[in-house]
Amino acid sequence: MTGSTFLGMGHFVPPRVVTNNDLAVLMETTDEWITQRTGIKERHWVDGDVGASELAEHASRQALAEAGLEPKDIDLILFATLSPDLNFPGSACLLQARLGLPGVAAMDIRNQCTGFLYGLKTADAYIRSGLAKHVLVVGAEVHSTGLDVTTRGRDVAVLFGDGAGCAVVGPTDGESRVIDTELHADGRFAEILMVEAPASRLNPRLTAEMMEQGRHYPKMDGRSVFKHAVERLPEVIHSILKRNGYTLADVDVLVPHQANLRINEMVARQLGFPAEKIVNNIQKYGNTTAASIPMALHEAVQDGRVHKGNLVLLAGFGAGLTWGASLVRW
Ligand code: UT7
Repeated sequence: MTGSTFLGMGHFVPPRVVTNNDLAVLMETTDEWITQRTGIKERHWVDGDVGASELAEHASRQALAEAGLEPKDIDLILFATLSPDLNFPGSACLLQARLGLPGVAAMDIRNQCTGFLYGLKTADAYIRSGLAKHVLVVGAEVHSTGLDVTTRGRDVAVLFGDGAGCAVVGPTDGESRVIDTELHADGRFAEILMVEAPASRLNPRLTAEMMEQGRHYPKMDGRSVFKHAVERLPEVIHSILKRNGYTLADVDVLVPHQANLRINEMVARQLGFPAEKIVNNIQKYGNTTAASIPMALHEAVQDGRVHKGNLVLLAGFGAGLTWGASLVRW
């Protein structure tokens, strides 16, 4: 039966590196605090006016080259981001124009750290049903232009980085394929991690007073998000393995979302899963939300940690709340 498979991947980060010590100049924080609580040592931030679609274009061209395809071979673009270039239209449309693909369907996915997995499942469904042949699934974010880089915003600002990761997904009748993707959401907890303004539910959407109060910056109840993450991730991992007739012992590589090294270590301990089989690169990039899973996966493919025949488990958790997992035979 026709399924979908990864034909090529790409990832890109802007060249400017921002270390923990660089942040300590801007706000009351230390390399020690950030490293101990999160594992992050540095992240990449854009310089000047660079949007998510620009980072995505670099990653997309790399993925197309790896797949041996041209932009014209793409018949659907799925762009996962919480930091679109503009409020509207979506970044998928902007990326479509950058790739020179007028007329090709382009859609944004607003599912934060789980956005890439929502995109992958949508691509898989389109391909299995014959509605699309080659789907570009993108996760790309520019966080740095929207962070409060003062002591007031330090609990959030030190966590996030800019970047893009992307996969060209296409049809296959072979063994290497997306086996399954399980997705979840729980909007009751939307406000534990959100950017409140500007918003259509506020009238006016944004005022100078709101900006003075910092209501246009991300707000997070970090402890609550952490608690939910370490419960939901093991749960969805057990669930997707069980419903496909696998156990953790069958998994060669786990590529989790990169929100916090401590979350991934705690999840591994709860699962009893060996640390050396987990891909972590948050140390270099911080949390790049929708881009983190494809960036980590592509790095692991490039350095040989993921290779043909491997059973690869992708897992993500983030704002929404949203969470999910994908099982892929590489
Ligand atoms: O992908 C999106 C999903 N996001 C996540 O999964 C994030 C989940 N949460 C976390 O990773 C953790 O909650 C954080 C790393 C964000 C925070 O760690 P924590 O151990 O929960 O710290 P906390 O928020 O309870 O803050 C502890 C202390 C506070 O000071 P007091 O009240 O104890 O005096 C904070 O004000 O650390 C202070 N603090 C900082 N100090 C230095 C908060 N941010 C910083 C900072 N530098 N950047």
